Amino acid sequence: MARLIGGVATSHIPAIGGAIHKGLQQQPYWKPFFDGFPPVREWLGRTKPDVVVIFYNDHGLNFFLDKMPTFAVGAAEQYANADEGWGIPTLPPFKGELDLSWHIINTVTEQDFDLVTCQEMLVDHACTLPMKLLWPDGDCPSVVPVCINTVQFPLPSAKRVYALGRAVGDAIHTWESDKKVAVLASGGLSHQLDGERAGFINKEFDLQFLSSLLTNPEWATQFSIHDLVEKTGTQGVELLMWLAMRAALTTNTIAVRKVHSNYHIPISNTATGLLALEAMGVSPFTGAQPVN
Ligand code: DHB
Ligand code: FE
Repeated sequence: MARLIGGVATSHIPAIGGAIHKGLQQQPYWKPFFDGFPPVREWLGRTKPDVVVIFYNDHGLNFFLDKMPTFAVGAAEQYANADEGWGIPTLPPFKGELDLSWHIINTVTEQDFDLVTCQEMLVDHACTLPMKLLWPDGDCPSVVPVCINTVQFPLPSAKRVYALGRAVGDAIHTWESDKKVAVLASGGLSHQLDGERAGFINKEFDLQFLSSLLTNPEWATQFSIHDLVEKTGTQGVELLMWLAMRAALTTNTIAVRKVHSNYHIPISNTATGLLALEAMGVSPFTGAQPVN
């Protein structure tokens, strides 16, 4: 069976792509953000996942407001990036992992989730930036994109997203493969780009949420979507991706160890967070296999 080695969550902000392109990582504005990544890259360099499943939200590149799936899973040979109008250079296509895509789709559907399956899928900055931040040289694993709507109401509840994450975790554990898999989350933390509260950030809530992912992963499922918008901003609800990632690592037999975290305010309008978790224990399905 495949091995789930852990997860990494990071914010995605188009300006990060511009900073990478212009080589600004060491400038005072950017340094506290980029300095979070070397320990996480070092861990990924050691654990070497072959595949990543990435929970992210599309911002209008692949799905526009006229057709907005709640949950969509990519099942394509490759995922191309395209110009979204932010002025960041596009990246070459990411390689897909068809066998895992379909295994996730089948497993999660059997657990009563109704998914949109995408045999063609463009991926936006929410996919490209985490991949570029974690594998700056482009030598990245193959990917399975799992898109969660946080863009147009109605949004899925935190409880539902948590359940989806668990189901995706089950699928990874039962995938017949000798490959190593990591789960990624892209989005958040608190930010609001539009309306009267544009620029809203809630450090206290962000830090509570971050610490809950270590000590009490279901903590955020107590909140309704409207609570989460109030506490984190209209785009801060992207933190649902972090919840899905954490849920994918939650089984009876696996504990998580924090590899590294970082929190920095602001980059653009966003409170940025980074968290890497290593899964420690045995596969809940085979019972015997060390995860790492
Ligand atoms: C910003 C944040 C986002 O999550 C996003 O998708 C686009 C822009 C920002 O803070 O600029
Ligand atoms: Fe976003």
